[in-house]
Amino acid sequence: MMISKAHCLAVAFVFLATLQHADAGYDPIDPEGNITIKWDVVEWTGDGYRAIVTMSNWQLYRHIQAPGWIMGWTWATKKEVIWNMVGAETREQGDCSKFTGNLPHCCKRTPEVIDLLPGVPYNQQTANCCRGGVLSSYMQDPKTSVASFQVIVGNTGNKNTTIKLPQNFTIMTPGPGYTCSSAKVVPKTKFLSPSGRRITEAFMTWTVKCSYTEQLAHKAATCCVSFSAFYNETIVPCEKCACDCPTNNTTPIITTNGADTNNQRCINRFDPHLPLTLNSTKNNNLQQQPDMLYCTNDMCPVKIHWHIKLNYQEYWRVKITITNRDISRNYTLWNLVARHPNFKNFTESFSFSYKPLTAYGPTNDTAIFWGVKYYNDMLMQAGPSGNVQSEILFRKDSAFTLANGWGFPSHVLFNGDHCVLPHADHYPTLPSSSSTLRAATTTIALLVLFAVALLI
Ligand SMILES: *[C@@H]1O[C@H](CO)[C@@H](O)[C@H](O)[C@H]1NC(C)=O
Ligand SMILES: *[C@@H]1O[C@H](CO)[C@@H](O)[C@H](O)[C@H]1NC(C)=O
Ligand SMILES: *[C@@H]1O[C@H](CO)[C@@H](O)[C@H](O)[C@H]1NC(C)=O
Ligand SMILES: *[C@@H]1O[C@H](CO)[C@@H](O)[C@H](O)[C@H]1NC(C)=O
Ligand SMILES: *[C@@H]1O[C@H](CO)[C@@H](O)[C@H](O)[C@H]1NC(C)=O
Ligand SMILES: *[C@@H]1O[C@H](CO)[C@@H](O)[C@H](O)[C@H]1NC(C)=O
Ligand SMILES: *[C@@H]1O[C@H](CO)[C@@H](O)[C@H](O)[C@H]1NC(C)=O
Ligand SMILES: *[C@@H]1O[C@H](CO)[C@@H](O)[C@H](O)[C@H]1NC(C)=O
Ligand SMILES: *[C@@H]1O[C@H](CO)[C@@H](O)[C@H](O)[C@H]1NC(C)=O
Repeated sequence: MMISKAHCLAVAFVFLATLQHADAGYDPIDPEGNITIKWDVVEWTGDGYRAIVTMSNWQLYRHIQAPGWIMGWTWATKKEVIWNMVGAETREQGDCSKFTGNLPHCCKRTPEVIDLLPGVPYNQQTANCCRGGVLSSYMQDPKTSVASFQVIVGNTGNKNTTIKLPQNFTIMTPGPGYTCSSAKVVPKTKFLSPSGRRITEAFMTWTVKCSYTEQLAHKAATCCVSFSAFYNETIVPCEKCACDCPTNNTTPIITTNGADTNNQRCINRFDPHLPLTLNSTKNNNLQQQPDMLYCTNDMCPVKIHWHIKLNYQEYWRVKITITNRDISRNYTLWNLVARHPNFKNFTESFSFSYKPLTAYGPTNDTAIFWGVKYYNDMLMQAGPSGNVQSEILFRKDSAFTLANGWGFPSHVLFNGDHCVLPHADHYPTLPSSSSTLRAATTTIALLVLFAVALLI
């Protein structure tokens, strides 16, 4: 399994080139995508104010999964404290030794706020709180794409109502990826009373806009795509080294600190020591366990397989399989974005939820898929249940053809990140005389091959 360094570099370069094309903060599929943080001051408290902080995920297809978001900022004067917080908490209290009696919730100059876990007592909750930091994408569920908490800030140094805005906001998920603007005072929010008959107004409102850059989140790709079609028994695998290069080392190596371990973070799935028991230690850094993958040629934690399954007179059918090769991670609320010209005549998705990404963006060839609640909305850790699949049906576009790889998508994203596609010249090709397709025998052979492909 020796793979040249040059090949690794080539794949990495293609991946970065793809990103640069789509990036620098601009996402052609979701040009308006952002997470907006809004502070509404609703009361003066003498030494400070009470504010309702709302974080809204306007991104169409990017969500924040467990262990959840961490919102940070820097107080403008060095003295502010957080007296109290409802619906969230800070990770550290900091040095409150100057206080006697009632202690502040947090005295740090750079507080870091995390969500509460579901099920906290009612008096510690606010609307839209307490989901363990999970924030759904706007398309998957606008209702759970908002998080909010209440904060009472004291020691602002002002007897009057002048506020120096907090600075240098950050969102960690919990890793990097988001960059936030500075806070900007905007028109005061108007609140509608529960009866819907009275309107109240915030005393002051400011917002911060945060946007995602894939290169900040990770250097290499995290998913890859493989192709097959009913008319050709070749399965086009993921690109070699799409996410990393494998080593020929078959001993299980378990990293304990997530440090770079020279590519040796995979285990051979046929190793007699399996199954492994993972070690979970309780700590305050909210980090995921280090990824632990089955060794593959592409070393991607997630593989998406696109199989052109059937060609009817007016329709054609594709089977999509998403396989998790990471034995240390479940993907909750996963989503998949795919771009193909025939999505404008999309007909049905049998086991995934589906929405076109047309109404909001400038394209009409892009779709988002995600799991059906309680059925396949969790992509389980690698193993027998570590995959989800659905068949999808298109009504044939006028441009429909099985030739030249037309039936394969041009872009695939898993959980908002670009997946490495096979090179265009590797598509399964039609037999030289397509009229001589012996469908029955081929189909049986391919079903067997397809089952094998799923296991890899
Ligand atoms: C954030 O996204 C929303 C929804 O797409 C959009 O209306 C808003 O203008 C965006 N905010 C900024 C500051 O770009
Ligand atoms: C409010 O306090 C700040 C800082 O103490 C001061 O600069 C400002 O002039 C005061 N504003 C009013 C209206 O008193
Ligand atoms: C905010 O970040 C900028 C740039 O990193 C830095 O110059 C500035 O001092 C920071 N502000 C505070 C209050 O820490
Ligand atoms: C790995 O590959 C190197 C170079 O080909 C070889 O020397 C070494 O014996 C191999 N190790 C194993 C465990 O196969
Ligand atoms: C799990 O980690 C703890 C602390 O690092 C260590 O003492 C323990 O031996 C580990 N257990 C296993 C099964 O590796
Ligand atoms: C994934 O979810 C299953 C079922 O909820 C659970 O048993 C398993 O421990 C989880 N795995 C990880 C790595 O969190
Ligand atoms: C395909 O979609 C386009 C645009 O939505 C529509 O005009 C056309 O009639 C559709 N074609 C078929 C065959 O359904
Ligand atoms: C879909 O997009 C293509 C290319 O931008 C355009 O030519 C076509 O008219 C669009 N169709 C619809 C129904 O919006
Ligand atoms: C299947 O596709 C592969 C890859 O494009 C090609 O090399 C092969 O000739 C095709 N097989 C048949 C039977 O046409």
